[in-house]
Amino acid sequence: MALPVGDIETRSDCERLVRAFYGRALEDEVIGWLFTDIARLDLEAHVPRITAFWETVLLGAGTYSGGAFRPHVALHARARLRGGHFERWLHLWNETVDGMFSGPRAQLAKGHAARVARAFASRLGAYEPPPTAAVSSTGGPLAITLHGPGGDGARAATGSAHA
Ligand code: HEM
Ligand code: HEM
Repeated sequence: MALPVGDIETRSDCERLVRAFYGRALEDEVIGWLFTDIARLDLEAHVPRITAFWETVLLGAGTYSGGAFRPHVALHARARLRGGHFERWLHLWNETVDGMFSGPRAQLAKGHAARVARAFASRLGAYEPPPTAAVSSTGGPLAITLHGPGGDGARAATGSAHA
């Protein structure tokens, strides 16, 4: 296959990328079931939101208002996400990006996904509990996000690196 020559330039590029990614992710033997069987992803509802996320990160559109962590907490509560799931997600994302685009924004798409994946995985304790996690003595880091009314609400609202 010829290497792609164009970079991500428009919202429509972001949407094509997102749709191509989910085309693979939903079929994937490692993480597909998380979307189809556990989250029962409504792709047509999800695509505009995740497109807005990438349009904001890559094109500065400001169309995404945040709160990306919360659905992953809900998913984790139902089907314990592990480091390997995030690695697989990233692998599929990177392959999809590289198959369609090249340039600084394509690089940024891969770089930012890696940062978010690392942050989500660590906040969920998907690898190991962080040694200095400020949690109660009754639980690991999951206690932060799963205990109490409102769950991770406060953190989801303010926990972004871009507050
Ligand atoms: C180009 C500028 C950038 C934009 C517009 C951007 C945008 C975003 C957005 C919208 C989120 C989701 C926040 C949420 O839903 O709560 C996010 C998450 C994140 N970003 Fe960026 N980002 C940018 C650059 C960076 C850079 C340079 C870094 C690191 C050096 C970074 C690290 C992170 C991390 C770690 C998260 C996950 C935070 C968490 O919820 O734990 N971002 N970013
Ligand atoms: C194991 C890996 C992952 C799984 C299984 C997963 C799954 C999901 C699911 C089920 C949703 C909710 C869809 C819905 O019903 O609305 C979601 C939302 C989202 N995910 Fe992930 N995700 C993973 C990793 C990531 C990573 C690494 C990123 C980094 C860019 C990311 C970004 C987002 C964003 C921006 C949303 C939209 C949140 C919103 O609605 O505002 N996810 N994800």
